Amino acid sequence: MKENQKRRIRYQVACSLDGYIAGPNGEVNWIPDDPGIDFSVLFAQFDTLLMGRRTYEALPLDDPTYGHLYADKELIVFSRTLRPETHPRATIVAELTPTYLEQLRLQPGKDIWLFGGGELFRSLLELGFVDTVELAVAPILLGGGTPFLPSPAPRQRLKLLGQQLYAQSGIVLLNYAVMPGGA
Ligand SMILES: NC(=O)c1ccc[n+]([C@@H]2O[C@H](COP(=O)([O-])OP(=O)(O)OC[C@H]3O[C@@H](n4cnc5c(N)ncnc54)[C@H](OP(=O)(O)O)[C@@H]3O)[C@@H](O)[C@H]2O)c1
Repeated sequence: MKENQKRRIRYQVACSLDGYIAGPNGEVNWIPDDPGIDFSVLFAQFDTLLMGRRTYEALPLDDPTYGHLYADKELIVFSRTLRPETHPRATIVAELTPTYLEQLRLQPGKDIWLFGGGELFRSLLELGFVDTVELAVAPILLGGGTPFLPSPAPRQRLKLLGQQLYAQSGIVLLNYAVMPGGA
């Protein structure tokens, strides 16, 4: 990060074509693998992960395949119910304020991954603290589940920065900048 440059907060998430980030039972096993997507490269772009309590509780921290990806990351979990002393692996933050987020962006470091879920995304969007929305759209209709952005939420204009097709899985990556000034 250059001096005086704020760290970006990037909402990067996998989503069904009908707009869900998890199925009706919280499942994410519908997200296809693709040989073109290298999780090590993806995770290396970030040193800090922001997440809501429900996403944190579903995190595969001890998974033999994926657990190591989180090993060197700072996990910041927003929750009004979790007690920090029982979650030493994470920083538990009860109050999501612009001051807290601004200070985080000013700390030296890599980009910040807004890891999810939809409810936390809405909270940050309302406060104007999301820089990009990076959506891996999977070719599936889930018919229900956890919405990418729960209603009601503010209207927000986006600018398409790029797109990429992963032909084997059919995933389409859409990268948008959040336009200043909301709608
Ligand atoms: N497809 C993907 O790439 C992907 C990525 C991430 C997550 N997911 C899935 O998405 C689901 C979870 O998403 P979700 O939208 O239901 O929940 P979420 O955003 O992960 O968590 C919601 C919780 O976060 C806390 N929270 C949210 N806003 C807050 C605020 N302003 N201040 C303080 N705390 C706040 C609250 O915790 P308390 O109730 O404790 O106060 C709230 O109940 C999981 O199934 C997860 O596996 C999928």
